[in-house]
Amino acid sequence: VAAPEKHQLRHYRHPELNDQIEKVLDSLKITDDQLEQIMHLLEEEMNAGLSPLTHHQAIVKMFPTYVRNIPNGTEIGQVLALDLGGTNFRVLLIDLRGNSRIELTSKIFLIPQSVMIGDGKRLFRHLAECLHEFMQKERILNTGVCYPIGFTFSFPCQQEGLASARLTAWTKGFDCSGVVNEDVVKLLQDAIDEKRINAKCVALINDTVGTLMACAYKDPSTAIGLILGTGTNACYIENLDKVGTWKGDYNEPKQVIINMEWGAFGDNGRLNLIRTKYDEEVDLSSMNPGKQIFEKMISGMYMGEIVRLIILDLLQQELLFLGHRDTYGDYKTPLYNRGGFYTKFVSTVEIDEGIQFSNTRRVLEDIGIRNPTYDDCAIVRHICRQVSKRAAKLAAAGLAVLINRIGKSNITVGVDGSLYRYHPRFKHNMERCMETLINKSIQFKLTLSDDGSGKGAAMVACLADDSLCKKSVVHNE
Ligand code: GLC
Repeated sequence: VAAPEKHQLRHYRHPELNDQIEKVLDSLKITDDQLEQIMHLLEEEMNAGLSPLTHHQAIVKMFPTYVRNIPNGTEIGQVLALDLGGTNFRVLLIDLRGNSRIELTSKIFLIPQSVMIGDGKRLFRHLAECLHEFMQKERILNTGVCYPIGFTFSFPCQQEGLASARLTAWTKGFDCSGVVNEDVVKLLQDAIDEKRINAKCVALINDTVGTLMACAYKDPSTAIGLILGTGTNACYIENLDKVGTWKGDYNEPKQVIINMEWGAFGDNGRLNLIRTKYDEEVDLSSMNPGKQIFEKMISGMYMGEIVRLIILDLLQQELLFLGHRDTYGDYKTPLYNRGGFYTKFVSTVEIDEGIQFSNTRRVLEDIGIRNPTYDDCAIVRHICRQVSKRAAKLAAAGLAVLINRIGKSNITVGVDGSLYRYHPRFKHNMERCMETLINKSIQFKLTLSDDGSGKGAAMVACLADDSLCKKSVVHNE
């Protein structure tokens, strides 16, 4: 008798149902051959994004960021950072003290849903109000010092300089009017000036860039920044001679960080070979159908939703939660509603290793499945594992393309984002997959980049506007 394959349910007590469940989950499996094919496709899309002849139609945009210098830990300055990219907005005051020492204070503000999809002017006014409140609390308002701001704005932007960035499309559930095609730095600065705040936005960066910078600050072999959070994206250091779309100068260092916007990979159908009906449904019910196809198979905004749709499918085929219907034959559970299974549940469920299922039980009871059976728990964990493993493999394939392309013997990837941070196996699953896809001569390392989007923005602002930074330091001493 052949040993059961690793990915199959091992503890499931009704083997006759096992096959039917596996059949449902089969569509999530990606073979090594398919992964190699995906890597090849991604590399083609990257080259299309980097070439001036094809950039316009390209799906993976490969935006040059104008960030060319990597910090080395000696930077000194006091800088404000703003971080907008998910449901939270953060304001930070960051003190770069040299010797790789950083002090910071920060405050989190909520962005109400109505602001996320409202008028763009209102969004930026809201950001300026939060900044005002923060500076007042920190007693740095009206001190006569003009503070430099590094703005982490984690959406796709075409940049013409460090402090000029046109939004090309909203992602991750944002949809404010009047911002697409506009210069986001200008919109922010106008709102800041309107409130008479003495601060100047000197740089706009993507969160992946912040992550790369913050990691490079401590580890000079860092060449890639990766986010696995609400959304997913990567950036890396590319040689200028490979960047046909580069419009800046060719001074040293002859390199620039490229913001890939890899979340859009597949928007032209090139990932259809691995997309499932669940992926299609998640996409169709999203705010941006047809867009961010790769992101929707990987990131935190969508993972829980994929799991929910699979659970519902099994429920409808009477393969799961048997015996939990009420007298009307209904289940009283948020599983029927969009967003009814959070991505953080996937992490919680997968913390269960053995057969006790204490976390899984808690999650299921949370969503109205009282006294779930052993099988219910085993199946739900199995679904979560398959969905998150697929996401880890796809992210691993993306990284493998970058690492093989950079080709240095030692490469560190700075990583941040809630999915990576809180999922118990994501890193491990990625590493295992990367080992099979990356050239054997290359050593790679995934390093958690702590608070990269905040600190990284401060570093870029500091490198961008040395004089401004130093001035603010002098004032404070
Ligand atoms: C989305 C954004 C991208 C960002 C990523 C991670 O993909 O378009 O700019 O880096 O989310 O936050």
